[in-house]
Amino acid sequence: MGSLEGRVAVVTGAGRGLGREHALLLAAEGAKVVVNDPGVGGDGQGTDAGPAHDVVAEITAAGGQAVADTGYANDFTAAKALIDRAVDTFGDLHVLVNNAGITHDATLVKMTEAAWDSVISVHLKGHFATLHHAAAHWRKRAKEAGAPVSASVVNTSSGSGLRGSPGQLNYAAAKAGIAAMTVVAARELERYGVRVNAIAPVARTRMTLETPGLAARLAAREGEFDRWDPANISPVVAWLATEECTANAQMLMVRGGRIDVYDGWTVRETHQHEGRWSLDGLRTALGGLPTAPPTLDPAA
Ligand SMILES: NC(=O)c1ccc[n+]([C@@H]2O[C@H](COP(=O)([O-])OP(=O)(O)OC[C@H]3O[C@@H](n4cnc5c(N)ncnc54)[C@H](O)[C@@H]3O)[C@@H](O)[C@H]2O)c1
Repeated sequence: MGSLEGRVAVVTGAGRGLGREHALLLAAEGAKVVVNDPGVGGDGQGTDAGPAHDVVAEITAAGGQAVADTGYANDFTAAKALIDRAVDTFGDLHVLVNNAGITHDATLVKMTEAAWDSVISVHLKGHFATLHHAAAHWRKRAKEAGAPVSASVVNTSSGSGLRGSPGQLNYAAAKAGIAAMTVVAARELERYGVRVNAIAPVARTRMTLETPGLAARLAAREGEFDRWDPANISPVVAWLATEECTANAQMLMVRGGRIDVYDGWTVRETHQHEGRWSLDGLRTALGGLPTAPPTLDPAA
């Protein structure tokens, strides 16, 4: 028997890349899955119902249960329809994997308003909209039952947002926002029996293959563990989705077989002054602060 037998899961952006792998593994572990994906291009343009239906066909051919949903996760009405589809088709909802994503990279001086708006919307609103409607469902169920539900949300952040990747101001801001949203949602939904965690994955997908310089570094190497296979990320998502898992408000960076558990914004040093600081005092206390942020190498 699979670890997710009897669980109903929604996975956004599940037609390709990481979301597809999550959906396949959740279904293989016994979950009934709503495969959401409007099949957009890497920059969010265009639409194609094919990927979502292909993943559903793959799941059903392997003996699992799944339905497709081709709505946009960042469309508030479509997000409600997505959550309703899980409940109407499979009777309930236990797992929400917010994974849908696009990029529209540019340096700050070259970034257009459209590039900002689209990336912020797909990631931030795409997480908020599904979370909101799922949370409303779980609160209703908990109140009806007079007992907490046992549900799990897995959000998708990124090293870009946690450590700051040049050329991705819009994407990094959205992914850092998702990290903050995860903690707030975890604190608010705990009373209903809902855990909310996030992953920051690194894997070989359309998104990273389009990043200049990264494709060669993420290639599979003959005879070696394929560290950048997107399927390596999914067991972490599946484990977070199980009823036995108690982790809450956590951020896990997952690269191949490596998991880094983040500790939020940590305080590195404290400077205490009695009363208000003078500029001279600050010069002395803070004059040695670093001149550069920590380096970011996603494929390290
Ligand atoms: N691949 C990596 O190394 C990496 C690193 C950090 C974070 N991520 C995040 O992981 C998630 C999955 O990315 P991926 O690498 O698999 O990319 P991908 O491009 O292969 O897949 C993303 C999927 O999301 C879908 N999508 C886009 N906009 C959508 C919307 N509004 N509603 C529903 N679906 C939508 C696309 O159609 C696509 O199938 C994203 O949130 C991404 O930001 C990926």
